[in-house]
Amino acid sequence: MSEKDSKIIVNKLEKYLANKSKRLHDPIFFGNEIRYLNKCIETGFVSYVGKFVETFEKKLCNFTKSKFVVATSSGTAALHLILDYLNIGKNDEVLVPGYTYVATANAIKYCKATPNFVDIDTETLGVCPKKLENYLRKIIIKKKNKSFNKHTKKHIKAIIIVHVYGFSCKVNAIKKICKKYNIELIEDAAEAVGSFYKKKHLGTFGNFGILSFNGNKTITSGGGGAILVKSKTAAQKLKHLSTHSKLKVKFDHFHDKIGFNYRMINLAAAVGCAQLENLKLILAAKLKIFKAYKNIFKNAKGINLINAPKYCQSNYWLITVLFEDKKIREKFIRNLSKKGIGLRYTWRPLKSLKIFNDCPSDKLDVSKSIFERTLNLPSSPALGIKK
Ligand SMILES: Cc1ncc(COP(=O)(O)O)c(C=O)c1O
Repeated sequence: MSEKDSKIIVNKLEKYLANKSKRLHDPIFFGNEIRYLNKCIETGFVSYVGKFVETFEKKLCNFTKSKFVVATSSGTAALHLILDYLNIGKNDEVLVPGYTYVATANAIKYCKATPNFVDIDTETLGVCPKKLENYLRKIIIKKKNKSFNKHTKKHIKAIIIVHVYGFSCKVNAIKKICKKYNIELIEDAAEAVGSFYKKKHLGTFGNFGILSFNGNKTITSGGGGAILVKSKTAAQKLKHLSTHSKLKVKFDHFHDKIGFNYRMINLAAAVGCAQLENLKLILAAKLKIFKAYKNIFKNAKGINLINAPKYCQSNYWLITVLFEDKKIREKFIRNLSKKGIGLRYTWRPLKSLKIFNDCPSDKLDVSKSIFERTLNLPSSPALGIKK
């Protein structure tokens, strides 16, 4: 792409964003948020007990069609709880994509387990099933139907796949591989509330999935997360773990396990409930924003707007562009930053960070290439919605 072409696209972007949010992703509030928050304050139920938490869980069950939902203080906490519930510890490995937000791999480290990084595909930006299968074939030795890494001798107990920017991985193909190797499938759908694969909400394919309601997500509860879970027993145990494993004993304090303080608070759930009421409008706005960007980038040589993969109905959380090469991206960034337009490099492969560089890993060529050639652009719902 020539300097001239790059400037033309940047000017189009500037025009589209004029007098609107140029930041990456601002939340939007135009519903019952204040009314519900007032209710919490008036009744004194501002903390871990209160009816909004249960309402939020029920509304999420309805929307995602997950059998059970446990609301948590964050998406990271939700991941940590699942891994703890599965007894994942220092002798275990958890497969995780090379390209994801650090929280996914941190949750594994909290349990003293080892992340084992696998590569992604360009189509979905999620774990590539073909590469996963090839990698497992090379490293796995099976003992009593359990999969062990023959090099590290550790038990490969689970995989956390990530639905990046609201796009779905090839989740059915990955699920089959998990079944074959007896590996628990956990879906990090932190960025994917309102995203579906063949009409099924992301995070509901395996036994466990998580969502995030951080302030920068499609809808927010200020901070918060949720576990989407299939079995009633697991849901009850996860809820128990998230509340210091406190037993219900009148006048007394009994705890039967080391638990966590990871329950969502009523104030957060109140905001979450109000946001859920407007989720469909917000999703429609996000699609409108994606279409507007599509128009802006339609004749851009060397830059492609990343589309939802086949069968995925995406929430288009962060609009992302893919450049033919690194140099075109740097040229584009120089022009964009002169206009004060919010932009963000995407994630550097976690294995390249010192904190993870001793972890086992497959080749991460696509993770690296995607990191070097992509850019997130301003994607706030307000760009597509009139309050
Ligand atoms: C892919 C991914 N996983 C996990 C998280 C963690 O969620 P939270 O910020 O709610 O802890 C985030 C986002 O922040 C994320 O983008």
